[in-house]
Amino acid sequence: MVSNDPYEGALFIPSGGPVWHWRALWRQWRWAGFKSELARHLENWQPPSDRLLLMGPSAGWCLPSAFLARFKTIDAVDIDPLAPLLFRFNHGLALARSGTSLTFHKLNLFREFDSILKAYPEHAILFSNVLGQHLFHDEDQARAQATIEAIKLSLSNRYWASFHDRLSGAYPPGKALPIAQTSPRAVESAKLASDLGLSGQWLDHLTVNVLPDETERHLILWPLLADWLHIVEFGSVEPR
Ligand SMILES: C[S@@+](CC[C@H](N)C(=O)[O-])C[C@H]1O[C@@H](n2cnc3c(N)ncnc32)[C@H](O)[C@@H]1O
Repeated sequence: MVSNDPYEGALFIPSGGPVWHWRALWRQWRWAGFKSELARHLENWQPPSDRLLLMGPSAGWCLPSAFLARFKTIDAVDIDPLAPLLFRFNHGLALARSGTSLTFHKLNLFREFDSILKAYPEHAILFSNVLGQHLFHDEDQARAQATIEAIKLSLSNRYWASFHDRLSGAYPPGKALPIAQTSPRAVESAKLASDLGLSGQWLDHLTVNVLPDETERHLILWPLLADWLHIVEFGSVEPR
């Protein structure tokens, strides 16, 4: 069962909103490594559709324009009222050049999930760093995890991909980042933290089983702040 989202319709939300946009604007160049690694994975993802459904893209601060410009049509779903304007600020020119049509829908993707899928049956789907944020939108963590784990069941006949937070926590400024890994299957959060040599308290974003079992997982390191690191996972899935 999907809960009511206390942040729906709000300007300030824990997974996005003005604070996120401000931070993203000022940290663009510091995120260059993360963005280019993400761009590489998105470039390798070649679903056979020229239509893209973007789930929770915010203003697309981390998304490469060149990836978006591959598509003829993009439908984007986000509850943030600022997302459409800022997304166009970031990507409008590139999308105009490629002739890509962009439409934003202010919908709660979890509550409207089935109707969104039905409305866009031919679109490839990208969950854009949204599934690992759901724990901030539902105080019942077991229910939040069940909600994000259930999405793969409705997507068995679709081409889809997701990048999402696995872990986040304090990381000493200047310390070398852990070595990013690829894994053929899900790695439990405690083992993942230990494999990466992370110590201290790390927030588990409950995304260990978002991707189907047999999906290859690529880790990407994202130093969100000078002293705060996110471990992000990327995976893509084909119809079974
Ligand atoms: C961390 S941001 C995504 C950042 C994005 N990848 C970028 O490159 O800027 C997460 C986004 O998910 C949106 N979001 C969170 N829960 C949502 C929901 N239930 N339905 C639709 N959008 C949601 C937030 O509004 C926010 O814009």
